[in-house]
Amino acid sequence: MKGKIIIIMALAIALLGAGAALAGITATKHNLSVTGTGTVKASTGQQNNEICVYCHTPHFAVASGHSPLWNKNGTPTGTTYAMYGTTLAGTTPDATPNGITKACLSCHDGVSAINSLVNQANAGGVVGAGYNVAFGASVPPAAVLLTGAATNIGTTLVNDHPVSILYIAGKAGLKATTTVFGTSSTLAALLRSGKVECSSCHDPHAASGDTTSSGTTASSMFLRISNSSSALCLACHVK
Ligand code: HEC
Ligand code: HEC
Ligand code: HEC
Ligand code: HEC
Repeated sequence: MKGKIIIIMALAIALLGAGAALAGITATKHNLSVTGTGTVKASTGQQNNEICVYCHTPHFAVASGHSPLWNKNGTPTGTTYAMYGTTLAGTTPDATPNGITKACLSCHDGVSAINSLVNQANAGGVVGAGYNVAFGASVPPAAVLLTGAATNIGTTLVNDHPVSILYIAGKAGLKATTTVFGTSSTLAALLRSGKVECSSCHDPHAASGDTTSSGTTASSMFLRISNSSSALCLACHVK
């Protein structure tokens, strides 16, 4: 009897896990296709039925140094970022954000177009630098920028948690190992070439780790784990 209960519980947990995995990106604001849950997304009547295409492409992806199979044109020429400036205990951030962080900034810096893709959906083909895919009513398609007060983090990163920065255990109370991230339990899984980037704390595909000031799950912050009781911060910092 006990064994049966354990098996049923294990099954239930496995199913819960599967459900969460299936939920994935589809039910998040990063689904920019017409089925997306946010307000910033493609309209009906456009090449609007793909989800991954706004970030990834199977062909003609931008060269290495970016996120995998990246489908976005870079930031507009002349864009510069002001990195975290306060003197840090460990080291200073790189002078410019690394590709993995630039991937996020290519939509979140308020100057790069969300709809500036390299390879269009379906048979759209390679559209090349400076061309925006249809994303809204205007013809020819205009650049769509993030204007949300919270989601446009801008090009001034001095007021954001340092990114493109080496993780040096012992500095700023940084742990030598971490175990609270579940399946991505090692520090190596959080760091990119030994550095903290946007995706150390965020998973752009997952609605998990929801946390809002009101404690509801209405808004997904794409966190790798919930920051309830500051668990995310405490995964790296001993404080
Ligand atoms: C809003 C942008 C965005 C969308 C949309 C998106 N991705 Fe990603 N994806 C990223 C970024 C950024 C990374 C690099 C993340 C990191 O450093 O961990 C990534 C990494 C990946 C990786 C490699 C690392 C991993 O997490 O396993 C795979 C595979 C992947 N994406 C698949 C997909 C698929 C399939 C879709 C569509 C269902 C999709 N992505 C939609 C931004 C996106
Ligand atoms: C293709 C464009 C695109 C890319 C690339 C992208 N985002 Fe977003 N992101 C959006 C849009 C659009 C929204 C919704 C904005 C709004 O409604 O104001 C959003 C919202 C968010 C939100 C807020 C979610 C909420 O519920 O309020 C977070 C957090 C976020 N993104 C983090 C990231 C991170 C971290 C990366 C890189 C790993 C990234 N994004 C890459 C387009 C993008
Ligand atoms: C050290 C962890 C960490 C890093 C690194 C990080 N974020 Fe966040 N981010 C958070 C947390 C936690 C939240 C939840 C809301 C909050 O506390 O501001 C958040 C919220 C956000 C939001 C929603 C706006 C807000 O503050 O409520 C956006 C957009 C966002 N992050 C984008 C990014 C981008 C882009 C990068 C890389 C340049 C990045 N984040 C790097 C932890 C991080
Ligand atoms: C993935 C690991 C990681 C996570 C998660 C993380 N940090 Fe950090 N944090 C770092 C690194 C690396 C530095 C740079 C330390 C240095 O070189 O001095 C840093 C620096 C800081 C600093 C600046 C210290 C100084 O000397 O100026 C503060 C404050 C801080 N983090 C707070 C937070 C908070 C709050 C959270 C949760 C929202 C958080 N961190 C989550 C890795 C992390």
